[in-house]
Amino acid sequence: MTPAAAEAKQATGAVHCRAVSKVFGDSGSEVVAVDSVNLDVAPGEFVVILGPSGCGKSTLLSMIAGLEPVTSGEITADGAPVIGPGPDRCMIFQQSSLYPWMSVADNVSFGLKLRGVPKAERRETARDLLQTMGLGDFADAQPDGLSGGMRQRAAIARALAMQPRVLLMDEPFAALDVQTRAKLQNYIASLRAESGASVLFVTHSIDEAVALADRIVVFTARPGRIKAMVDVEMERPRDPRSPEYHALHDQLVDLLADEVDRAFAQQERARR
Ligand SMILES: Nc1ncnc2c1ncn2[C@@H]1O[C@H](COP(=O)(O)OP(=O)(O)O)[C@@H](O)[C@H]1O
Ligand SMILES: [Mg+2]
Repeated sequence: MTPAAAEAKQATGAVHCRAVSKVFGDSGSEVVAVDSVNLDVAPGEFVVILGPSGCGKSTLLSMIAGLEPVTSGEITADGAPVIGPGPDRCMIFQQSSLYPWMSVADNVSFGLKLRGVPKAERRETARDLLQTMGLGDFADAQPDGLSGGMRQRAAIARALAMQPRVLLMDEPFAALDVQTRAKLQNYIASLRAESGASVLFVTHSIDEAVALADRIVVFTARPGRIKAMVDVEMERPRDPRSPEYHALHDQLVDLLADEVDRAFAQQERARR
């Protein structure tokens, strides 16, 4: 086996966060964004991080992506310490930025080009992924011609083209209308089953969390700590009218209520 193949075989998408903290600012004006987070994501697991705004969700994802260093603690991905970005971990943001001068297909396959993948193979990968994301007819379109939901799907296809082991999704559907959002949630749920990648998905929507998660991690208001972890054992697709759904929804509302109040109070104080 080549070294690359051996590495690929070992890569499973496991993420471990050990006592991870993040402090922004200088002494005197420090902001503790993330406080002593311990979180293990199993290979192929879909973990949703749910918490009020400003509680450190994006910060935690950025640290796992290697875009932001930890202040203390350790993060590993497939056993290796995270010291910077890597092709094994891919982040998708709320507002994706496709290159406006490239066709949708070229956007999707751009990362593969940088990797030196031959043109024919790049085209095929892009075509397959765009098909999967329901954009089969838009391969040659320019990003400007797409709706927000379509651009976000193209951004997801671009991330998947790199075959990451870990997908880090930071409120990726927050800017979309309700119908598009529901559709993309379905896409992501089925994709996860196909690609085998682990997913860490940030949202402040309880319904989105319940629709998607194997496990929901509820964060406190700042400093972001883990308040509760809830396993979701309901079969997919999840029926919002079922009694289990309602029970879980209510449980999460209760867990979040105090935190949302605290986050509000923090933001009010900051405004004064
Ligand atoms: N680069 C930064 N410099 C200083 N403070 C930051 C920075 N990034 C985030 N913060 C602060 O850290 C806290 C957590 O932010 P963030 O992770 O974006 O929260 P969330 O994604 O949960 O809304 C907030 O108080 C925010 O203002
Ligand atoms: Mg955020």
